[in-house]
Amino acid sequence: MKTILLALTLALGPMGSHAQSQPTHLIPAPAEYSVRSGTVSPDAMASLHEKVLISEKALLRRLDGRQLTPWQLKSAYWLTLGRRSLKIVAADEEGLFYARQTIKMMASLDSAVSCCTILDWPRFPYRGLMLDESRHFQGKDFVKKQLEMMARLKMNRFHFHLVDNPGWRLQIDAYPRLTRLTAWRPQAFFWDWEQNEIGGPFVDEGTPGAYGGYYTKQDIADILAFAEARHIEVIPEIEMPGHNYETRAAYPSLACSLPGGGKDPWELCPGKETTYQFLETVLLEVFDMFPSRYIHIGGDEARKNNWALCPDCQARMKAEGLPSVAALQSYMIRRIARFAHAHGKRIIGWDEILQGGLAPDATVMSWHGTEGGLQAVREGHDVIFTPTRYCYLDYHQDPAQFRAVGRHLPLSKVYSFDPVDADIPPSSAHHVLGLQGNLWTEHVQDAWHAEMMLYPRVFAIAETGWSPAEKKNWPDFERRASAMSNVAREWGYTVYPPLQKH
Ligand code: ACM
Ligand code: ZN
Repeated sequence: MKTILLALTLALGPMGSHAQSQPTHLIPAPAEYSVRSGTVSPDAMASLHEKVLISEKALLRRLDGRQLTPWQLKSAYWLTLGRRSLKIVAADEEGLFYARQTIKMMASLDSAVSCCTILDWPRFPYRGLMLDESRHFQGKDFVKKQLEMMARLKMNRFHFHLVDNPGWRLQIDAYPRLTRLTAWRPQAFFWDWEQNEIGGPFVDEGTPGAYGGYYTKQDIADILAFAEARHIEVIPEIEMPGHNYETRAAYPSLACSLPGGGKDPWELCPGKETTYQFLETVLLEVFDMFPSRYIHIGGDEARKNNWALCPDCQARMKAEGLPSVAALQSYMIRRIARFAHAHGKRIIGWDEILQGGLAPDATVMSWHGTEGGLQAVREGHDVIFTPTRYCYLDYHQDPAQFRAVGRHLPLSKVYSFDPVDADIPPSSAHHVLGLQGNLWTEHVQDAWHAEMMLYPRVFAIAETGWSPAEKKNWPDFERRASAMSNVAREWGYTVYPPLQKH
């Protein structure tokens, strides 16, 4: 016990010793916080005498030998809050932005803000949230509202799941049928639409009473400007080769050369050259829209049965010397990765992209558990952890909750996750980019419901992504999450448990 305490004191450093009794409700907990005498009323926070210095040299002086990586330095800040004054030092606009979020949050969360000194930086470069727009279409205002909350929580990656079986939700000029024909359906609720785990009918854009929608290029530009101002990178996902029921509905020739496109209804044909022409044309438009250096290419849950029967797939396997349908998927992913690379982009894929061999410099999003991620780290790849058991925000928060996936994921369990597993050697820890919460929307019927699934669990994702591991403390977080939930409600968010019934 003594050794643990000593190790903890050393790890926390000189300011950290005050950390156990932070009189603030701030989420995420800052790396180092020390309280000074006096308090400021939340109202007075807006009229403090403010001094801001953006200087790497000045910040390094404040860091006093603490070793930060270059990306951490960019996000780091030092601030000191006195009764009448606020001083901020950062190396970059990004650090200044996070300092301002801290001030805003303390003014909202604390009834009297304690004067303090904070030295703060993130633990992980990827602190993400994913939103499924295909199964339920959220729309621009909802997305901006969640980006605003992400910024307040110092989260910085928004994974935009834009296309999937139940609807294509992104304007693509070269292929207008994608949105004209498959962004709309007769049934609003996903489970009323899907039939026998296959997929349901689509209707044309403009059909009276149809449910759906999609993002125009102007919508995307608006969202990107909003995100950029909040230091959030938006990463679009274009699924392949599975989860493409809607793509095949719009362009049936992209399916395998089998009766009805083959028994599996979701897959593109990775044998045909025209499939690559389609994907590359779509991706070029996506690259033009989104400045992120990442493109998420999906890669999950392709059943691959059609490929063993399709003459085009078989011919491709023969020509390329591919021994299995798993190798055929790997061929497709590697080919798309090379295409992305040629346009200055890198791919992210769900952990199935490990099957049949991983494309060079691909980043793996580990969702089945952490095994895929650990394997990728061992092979020298970057990984984002989003294991179902801890990060799937479509799981219910209590057994009585209506309309959610039947597995239980309470706030405490989300909070208990640490992306750096004991099996990861310290020399490979830099390959762990961070973590992400995923909201799949099979069960979601409106904004109220979506937010109830997100909050308060997103607060836990944010703290795990930002705060040093040794600062995590469940009882203290529970206290802060409760205060944060009330503030979020005041800001107009629905937070579980909802205060009034829908
Ligand atoms: C997934 O949940 N299919 C990535
Ligand atoms: Zn095929």
